[in-house]
Amino acid sequence: MASHSDQMKPVEFTLFEKAQLKMVPNKLKILLLLMAVVVVANAVTVAADYVRPPPRKNLQFPWDPKPSSQPQQVHVSLAGDKHIRVTWITSKSSSPSLVEYGTSPGKYTSRSHGESTSYSYLFYTSGTIHHTVIGPLEHNTVYYYKCGGKGPEFSLKTPPSEFPITLAVAGDLGQTGWTKSTLDHIDLCQYDLHLLPGDLSYADYIQSKWDTFGELVEPLASARPWMVTQGNHEKENIPFIKDGFESYNARWKMPYEESGSMSNLYYSFEVAGAHVVMLGSYTDYDVNSEQYNWLKADLSTVDRKKTPWLLALFHVPWYNSNYAHQGEGDDMMEAMEPLLHAAGVDLVFSGHVHAYERTKRVYNGKSNPCGAVHVTIGDGGNKEGLAQKYKEPSPEWSVFREASFGHGELKIVNSSHAFWSWHRNDDDEPVKSDEVWITSLITSNCVATKETKQA
Ligand SMILES: [Fe+2]
Repeated sequence: MASHSDQMKPVEFTLFEKAQLKMVPNKLKILLLLMAVVVVANAVTVAADYVRPPPRKNLQFPWDPKPSSQPQQVHVSLAGDKHIRVTWITSKSSSPSLVEYGTSPGKYTSRSHGESTSYSYLFYTSGTIHHTVIGPLEHNTVYYYKCGGKGPEFSLKTPPSEFPITLAVAGDLGQTGWTKSTLDHIDLCQYDLHLLPGDLSYADYIQSKWDTFGELVEPLASARPWMVTQGNHEKENIPFIKDGFESYNARWKMPYEESGSMSNLYYSFEVAGAHVVMLGSYTDYDVNSEQYNWLKADLSTVDRKKTPWLLALFHVPWYNSNYAHQGEGDDMMEAMEPLLHAAGVDLVFSGHVHAYERTKRVYNGKSNPCGAVHVTIGDGGNKEGLAQKYKEPSPEWSVFREASFGHGELKIVNSSHAFWSWHRNDDDEPVKSDEVWITSLITSNCVATKETKQA
């Protein structure tokens, strides 16, 4: 698999972090040096094959110490039918994993206790990370809640039980001025749930940046479920020292157990009339791998009468006419595209390439009326800027492509029709740049045809 061009910059240390380094023992210095070598080694093998405009700088987060038991970085995610997982972090380890909640402000008629974890990463130790599942909850209802019995009250809205439902989609977020612009635009949208196809914080080994990312997204992620899957920037592995995804798995627990998966790196969920599979581009996907077998079993449970729409998300795009990351998704595509196609997946969202692209319905490398529409939407606003160079001529399957930051909105109106729009935020103005009505595959002969063939 080709090396990754997102990691063009080696680890940078602030003055404060340099001061911390002087105080660490030689053993740790060696570990840090090894870590930096790994990152730089990745950087020197990347292709400087596209020109990016000046990216916006990382946001500055003022030092804001909070009381040790006050909840920080609050976010929520779906956790099975009628249940929501509330995640937050406290400095104090003895703070309870308690969520009190109710449908009126300040009146908490229910309470749930959850679990907590923490992790150490070289000389960094995380706060206590709490995960508490609340429910059963009513659909399409605002709940007010408090975490650990302390701090401010938050509110969230549960998704509707049926159409219409609106999904916001943006990947490769990071925490720059562009990220803020994208989040502000999403906040203006009436949406029910956020889908994030990988690359969240761009912490890139600097663990405190996971914390600042958690604070940055809290206003949105505490109010609507955020369903995420991993990208390469979540790996943070160090050969012989650290396995990958330690921070990501500890902080962004998704409903993998609820969906029969053995790994937080792939899972599925259902919302309104959509079944959504969240796959891992950076874990085994070959035929007979655990992920492959789980996907096969999961897709076999899909009832298109109950969930007429079938969506898939993963980080590395399979249909990409940008020069950036060209061919990186080929192996996964070869292994898994037949499964998705046989199941009749309607839409696939991916990230990784820092630009936007939408395809026709495609399968096996060319347009196919029974294939999925693929959307690359790795344009959330990260520090690395845009991938501007496209292959020419444009492939026959590519409908729309543009290198701008932005986000997408999928409004599933009913079992047959959904409206997809992509909103770029050039000049800090939300501009609807691409839009299309998509009809579901169950309204065609495609799904029925495949069932007939299998029979
Ligand atoms: Fe990526």
